[in-house]
Amino acid sequence: MITGYRDCTRALTDVETFSSEDLQELFIRAFGGVTMEALDTTRHHQMRGVWSRFFQRDALRSQRELVEEVVAAQVDPFVERVRAGETVDAIPNMTRAIPTLVIARMLGIDETMHRQFSAWSDAMGSTQAGTYDPSPEGMAVVQRGRDATAALNGYMAQSIKDRRAHGGGDDLISMMVHDEFADQMSEQEIIASNTQLVFAGNETTAKLMATTLASLAQHPEQLRMLVADRALIPRAIEEIHRWQTLVQVLPRRVKSNDARIEGIPIPNGAELKVLIGAGNRDPLRWEHPERLDITRVPRQHLGFGFGMHVCLGLNLARLEMQIWLDRLLDRLPEFHLAEEVKYTGGLGLRGPEEVQIAV
Ligand code: HEM
Repeated sequence: MITGYRDCTRALTDVETFSSEDLQELFIRAFGGVTMEALDTTRHHQMRGVWSRFFQRDALRSQRELVEEVVAAQVDPFVERVRAGETVDAIPNMTRAIPTLVIARMLGIDETMHRQFSAWSDAMGSTQAGTYDPSPEGMAVVQRGRDATAALNGYMAQSIKDRRAHGGGDDLISMMVHDEFADQMSEQEIIASNTQLVFAGNETTAKLMATTLASLAQHPEQLRMLVADRALIPRAIEEIHRWQTLVQVLPRRVKSNDARIEGIPIPNGAELKVLIGAGNRDPLRWEHPERLDITRVPRQHLGFGFGMHVCLGLNLARLEMQIWLDRLLDRLPEFHLAEEVKYTGGLGLRGPEEVQIAV
């Protein structure tokens, strides 16, 4: 396990020594096939290249209206209930649906499927926690995850066939199906890549929203500062993500006979746990890293990974987060937690179980 910020960045940059590709079976189990995340070669760049332009910050400006529309439809009814005096769990009643609806629209998928998408994605996300639990309950969690991957694979296979038969528009599935590189991808890789996109752009962003609400409610003075100065929103989101990192650990496999970290030899074939959650609290990089401080001078953190596999959707996640938080603070400048927050999800994708909000 490595925990320092610099060691984490070095390991994530050196893909020849610390490989994702050698963990392919992990990704195949999760998504039903090889995706960009399971490749360390030129093939990774080619596969990532199919969608990378779409996810660039400037290109995403054209998606702003779509995100605003989705956010408004979820935030406003939630705020109405809270202002009327109800205590409302923000996860099922606001944050959970936002990223699912956004990615479903971008993939050109029937929006009425969004609850099913969330359910599949949640089941897939629980698998990692279940992997370390040998009890019948743990095994059932893993089985549910596998069934969800198979179901989502089946749905994607059909959508891909439809796009081939009917041309298709400017959605992300069509973009991959009609890309030149698709000829060099197997059917299973195309299906798995689209499945991964649903998963990656889904529970992650919803959990960061829930974490943000909980963190601000626990720091009312910083919430007030943010309400008064919205220019602080991007910084606040990054600081909360640093402080309460969602993806705590990234696995890599050593594929070299002379791998070393801080002079310590690591055997060939060993699995390395890159603890980016720990790297994000490295006192050599951040003063008092255990404190949440939205006024910190921004420095890159590891919450979206680092190096070749750095998150493809980070600009989209940031856009969704910023639009959501701005609208929420406009309508609900003061709120508190009606119950203490319990974090779940293990090291794979950590987040609050419930966020009970009241005024
Ligand atoms: C707050 C939200 C998000 C978090 C915390 C997050 C986190 C991460 C992390 C840590 C990685 C690196 C994985 C590794 O090194 O093995 C990653 C990769 C990836 N993410 Fe995200 N992600 C988020 C949102 C999204 C969204 C919205 C999308 C797309 C719609 C997305 C798509 C991907 C993809 C495709 C990869 C693989 C990139 C590659 O291997 O080149 N993510 N993400």
